[in-house]
Amino acid sequence: MKKLLIAVLALAPMLGLAGYALAQPRPQVPNKPGVPLARDLQAKMPKPQALFDWAYPMAPPNTGPRPDPDETFTAEGADPSLKFTRRQISDGFGPPDWFPKDHAPMPRIVSNGREPHVRACTLCHLTSGIGHAESAPVSGLPIKYFIRQIVAFRDGDRVNIRAPNMIEMAHDMTDKEMRDAANYYARIPRAQWKSVRVVETSRAPANSIFPSGKRMFEKGANTIPVDPMTIYEVAENYQVELRNPRVGFAAYVPSGSLAKGRVVSLGNKGAFRSCASCHGNDLRGREDVPRLAGRSPSYLVRQLADMKYGHRKGKALGDMKDIAPKLSDADIVNVAAYLASRNP
Ligand code: HEC
Ligand code: HEC
Repeated sequence: MKKLLIAVLALAPMLGLAGYALAQPRPQVPNKPGVPLARDLQAKMPKPQALFDWAYPMAPPNTGPRPDPDETFTAEGADPSLKFTRRQISDGFGPPDWFPKDHAPMPRIVSNGREPHVRACTLCHLTSGIGHAESAPVSGLPIKYFIRQIVAFRDGDRVNIRAPNMIEMAHDMTDKEMRDAANYYARIPRAQWKSVRVVETSRAPANSIFPSGKRMFEKGANTIPVDPMTIYEVAENYQVELRNPRVGFAAYVPSGSLAKGRVVSLGNKGAFRSCASCHGNDLRGREDVPRLAGRSPSYLVRQLADMKYGHRKGKALGDMKDIAPKLSDADIVNVAAYLASRNP
């Protein structure tokens, strides 16, 4: 019996069992008193404006068969000997690092999080920080800005139906953990920042939100109309489900939105200062004001709508408090499309 076990362990990498032990249930650290749980917060979050529903993608109830948790995968482009099971890929305290050479060493809070409440940042924001349409692109953000946002989640100044996980985690993070994470993501090389490919069009390939909360292409060649108030931000392919940090989204934005969005970004013919006057040349960020260029349009719409309708608020918001209410709902869609199309 013992001999057999040794043989299996020796063969493990070839059998695709590498890291299997990690996937075993770990001892549970009890929840900390006073930390609100994401699942309890969810029902208390403000509903999005109906018009912007699409920018707050929520997973539909999963009615299909439960996928096999032990099926193994390798991300496209990764070392072929690197295999992770479906269960490991969604391990909140140790999701896969497919491209260790793409990035600097990760602080533990980023790669593994800390029990009980802080999940690995890479679970949702990935090792490259490009994130997914339903989370946030966080690479290249100013350190002060990054930390201010975690504090804003903790203090109730950022609420929406996509925010509960961040709110729970923010309640359990130390100042050092916030700084470590901010430093890591601020230093991701610029060449890795772009998370989205913008396509201006009146029709998009048929798509829908999958159980993972990601918008995915449907099989077949059908197309659907893109109305002037909607952006379909669709995963390029199934690799996003593996948390492949090199694969992002395609954003199908309405015809004419890029030109209109450019006018908004220049100040809407004098209605307010240009976005670049604070967000930096080419909208690439400046001092503690975050970059806007090349970021997920769903994320940008969510933020601008939340600011306009009072769900992202508080001292940290600064000058955006006056600007966001001056944007019409159409301005928000158009400017997000334009910003996403710029090179970061
Ligand atoms: C379970 C998924 C999930 C995990 C894990 C996660 N985040 Fe987030 N994060 C989100 C979502 C979703 C948002 C956007 C919320 C919204 O729409 O307002 C976000 C937003 C942020 C933002 C705001 C970005 C901006 O431009 O303002 C920061 C900063 C951030 N996360 C940091 C972290 C850090 C640090 C960790 C790890 C300790 C982490 N996140 C782990 C889901 C996650
Ligand atoms: C007078 C300065 C100023 C101008 C002009 C300005 N912004 Fe901002 N913006 C800020 C600051 C400061 C923040 C950071 C707020 C915070 O810390 O929460 C911000 C944050 C944002 C965010 C949130 C980004 C994120 O990562 O969550 C978006 C989106 C945004 N601005 C869009 C715009 C757009 C679009 C325009 C032009 C129509 C614009 N801003 C013009 C100062 C400005």
